[in-house]
Amino acid sequence: MKLTITGTPGTGKSTVARILSKKLGLPIYNISEVVKKEKLYSEFDERRDAFIVDIEKLENFFEDKKDFIAEGLVAHYISSDILVILRVNPEKISERLAGRGYSEEKIKENEEAERFAVIATEAVENPKAKRILHIDTTNRTPEEIVELILKGLSGEEVFEEIDWLE
Ligand SMILES: Nc1ncnc2c1ncn2[C@@H]1O[C@H](COP(=O)(O)OP(=O)(O)O)[C@@H](O)[C@H]1O
Ligand SMILES: [Mg+2]
Repeated sequence: MKLTITGTPGTGKSTVARILSKKLGLPIYNISEVVKKEKLYSEFDERRDAFIVDIEKLENFFEDKKDFIAEGLVAHYISSDILVILRVNPEKISERLAGRGYSEEKIKENEEAERFAVIATEAVENPKAKRILHIDTTNRTPEEIVELILKGLSGEEVFEEIDWLE
């Protein structure tokens, strides 16, 4: 099974992926690590202090892989059986990102991106997954989120109504 997990930084992708990987026995690919290691970028963005992912190279890297969890903020560009979009109340982003050494500006950018559903919209508008789960992580433990994902995997619809602008 090909399972991808996307979301704004701090939504809990890596945490949920670790638990799911143990439960399902699937290897995890952390996309930022893979992008660096396999040089799947086009250039380095000095201002953002981040590599610009070359989506075509990313797709090619995963093309011949059958069973995996890929997690990262461009995971929704990878073809998969199921895509999980994690969301969190933007007010929680700064505490979720505490200890990561991000600048105030970078934290604000991520709060805004989550508020305006930048990644979720990208993901829903460019479907590369057979199915999509959409989950609010704000008041749930990682274990509870994993339970919901397992329900989704068993065929239940898990697509929550989430709009931080309301
Ligand atoms: N459901 C959750 N509730 C509370 N804290 C969480 C939850 N999921 C993750 N965290 C915490 O938030 C921080 C960011 O989680 P992480 O998995 O690294 O997010 P991401 O990989 O999406 O950037 C970590 O400190 C993690 O322990
Ligand atoms: Mg992560």
